Amino acid sequence: MTLLQVDHLRIHRSSGAGDPLVSDVSFTVEAGEVVGVVGESGSGKTLTGLSLLGLLPDGLTATGSLRFEGRELLTQSRREWERTRGAEIAMVLQDPSSSLHPMLKLGEQLTDHLRLHLGLGKVEARARAIELLERVHLHEPERLLTQYPHQLSGGMKQRVSIAIALACGPELLIADEPTTALDANIRTGIIALLDELRRESGMGIIFVTHDLAMLSSIADRLNVFRTGEIVESGEAEAVFRTPKHPYTRVLLDAVPQVPWPLPEEVRS
Ligand SMILES: Nc1ncnc2c1ncn2[C@@H]1O[C@H](COP(=O)(O)OP(=O)(O)OP(=O)(O)O)[C@@H](O)[C@H]1O
Ligand SMILES: [Mg+2]
Repeated sequence: MTLLQVDHLRIHRSSGAGDPLVSDVSFTVEAGEVVGVVGESGSGKTLTGLSLLGLLPDGLTATGSLRFEGRELLTQSRREWERTRGAEIAMVLQDPSSSLHPMLKLGEQLTDHLRLHLGLGKVEARARAIELLERVHLHEPERLLTQYPHQLSGGMKQRVSIAIALACGPELLIADEPTTALDANIRTGIIALLDELRRESGMGIIFVTHDLAMLSSIADRLNVFRTGEIVESGEAEAVFRTPKHPYTRVLLDAVPQVPWPLPEEVRS
């Protein structure tokens, strides 16, 4: 079964004023697949992601259909959304600090999260927290649990926020520019981690980024957003090789060189 099927998603101001912010977006995500999302600033990428978590900003409304494992999300009750968020669909944001509380040690944040969402006891939650930190390849997880976010580098913080997103074993992860704030070698590490996670757990990933070259190493399919619409979509390899829409060509021309397919040693 298709993991996520988005049909004619439209996001507009609840007042009805102005043009829709997302006008008619349709795409699918299969289990274990990475769907890349690129497009100009303000084209509706983040709003589309937020609508999948039922977290649109106040004053905005989504219509159309968001089917997750065959179930319609848009008509869910508030309680059902709470279950969906985290346990089924999770999101990682550009700024890892936004998902971490600055005044709480990582141990408290992770174990509180696990106790609340998975109903684990204190000891179990700590063990699971350590397991998750190891999962995202952070060293000395016991010591990390005693530290505050500001004691970590940007790349480490992003790994912790990915660990939090993975805590409840979501089937779909929305990564909204998760590497934009990081430098190049750390970025590569995060990409490799996401690639590993989807291979091992069959998690579907929606990967929003401005970095087309990087996307060429991980995306199976590509959706190109422009002014609230998808102007081109297809197998990533085909879109990179023979972009059809003029805007996609402009995007690709801005990349010095898209090495497709990437050599095996870079992919793995
Ligand atoms: N709360 C809001 N109320 C009204 N308009 C909004 C609100 N949030 C976002 N918008 C508008 O919706 C449009 C889409 O925003 P969105 O954040 O989804 O863009 P994006 O594609 O993620 O851009 P970027 O690449 O800069 O992150 C933008 O024009 C933005 O100004
Ligand atoms: Mg955005």
